Amino acid sequence: MLLFGVESSCDETSVAVVEMGDAVRRICACKTASQIGIHQLYGGVVPEIASRAHAEAISSLAYQALAEAGVTMEEIDVVAVTAHPGLIGALLVGVNFAKGVAAAYHKPLVAVNHICGHVAANYLAHPDLRPPFLSLTVSGGHTSLMLVHDYTSFEVIARTRDDAAGEAFDKVARVMGIRYPGGAEMDRLASAGNRDAISFPSAAIQGDTLDFSFSGLKTAVINYLHNAEQKGERYSREDVAASFTRAVTDALVRRVDEALDRTGCKTVALAGGVAANSHLRTALCQKAQARGVALYLPPKELCGDNAAMIGAQGYYEFLAGHLSASDLNASAVSTLSRA
Ligand code: KG4
Ligand code: ZN
Repeated sequence: MLLFGVESSCDETSVAVVEMGDAVRRICACKTASQIGIHQLYGGVVPEIASRAHAEAISSLAYQALAEAGVTMEEIDVVAVTAHPGLIGALLVGVNFAKGVAAAYHKPLVAVNHICGHVAANYLAHPDLRPPFLSLTVSGGHTSLMLVHDYTSFEVIARTRDDAAGEAFDKVARVMGIRYPGGAEMDRLASAGNRDAISFPSAAIQGDTLDFSFSGLKTAVINYLHNAEQKGERYSREDVAASFTRAVTDALVRRVDEALDRTGCKTVALAGGVAANSHLRTALCQKAQARGVALYLPPKELCGDNAAMIGAQGYYEFLAGHLSASDLNASAVSTLSRA
């Protein structure tokens, strides 16, 4: 089955053609236009500008994706689009574009949850991955631990109470003078630093919860930087990045460990933009090896926002009969609720 995927929830406009079936999970084409250069001027995503940039880019990306895949819209079976969560104006561009395409070519339309889409990036990379499994999704807008009971059945067992992991990376990076989004540069700096140099607070909440809180950790790091600057003291950017990264990864890995204990799951999949972080990948690999559980990591090119993952999840939504009508609307908040 050929799916036409559309993604516009934040600052990447993406259109893809994917082939999905019992024995095939293949990206035929995935064209993504990043708006990062535009938003860097402001130090973060400006929603109004993001919506306008999506509107400018989306049609051309669609033509490019179809041309690269070597198919016409007539040959597409299903149109899949990110409908939630995300920036509402940005989402509406993709949703309305997908609705127009579906109506014009008389194709079924399915709405995809962006977080479930991130999880589905793993299906494209790993033909053998099948639910049930535990997923850790860490991105600029979301941080959640979910039990993926089936392809379209998700149980949220933990989430962040404030900032997302990627947001914390970006905000700390910004104070260190690193351009938005700073996650990848922090990753590089951390590799050259001493992770034991500074003791920052944990991002794991105390008590009988698996939830996270990144805001206290973020503030502690920013205070450390401001204090050093005010006193005219020099600090090692590498050590700050390494110690902060350690606090983030320790909390995430600890929660995965506890979730595995509680659920008895034997498989873990990582997802989202922060899944590209080399230190998190290494720490999770070590934990998975020590516990004897299977770990699935998305390739770095599928960690960030892309439409191929939306097409992949759209396939399973379609199989489950989750069709959308022409009144499909976007929603800024996630439809996934916790158990
Ligand atoms: O999934 P994504 O593309 O967008 C959202 O759905 O939010 O994630 C973007 C986030 C940004 O915060 C970015 O700084 C972070 O992923 N990121 C990283 C790395 N690469 C991207 N964070 C830490 N280490 C990285 N290597
Ligand atoms: Zn995302």
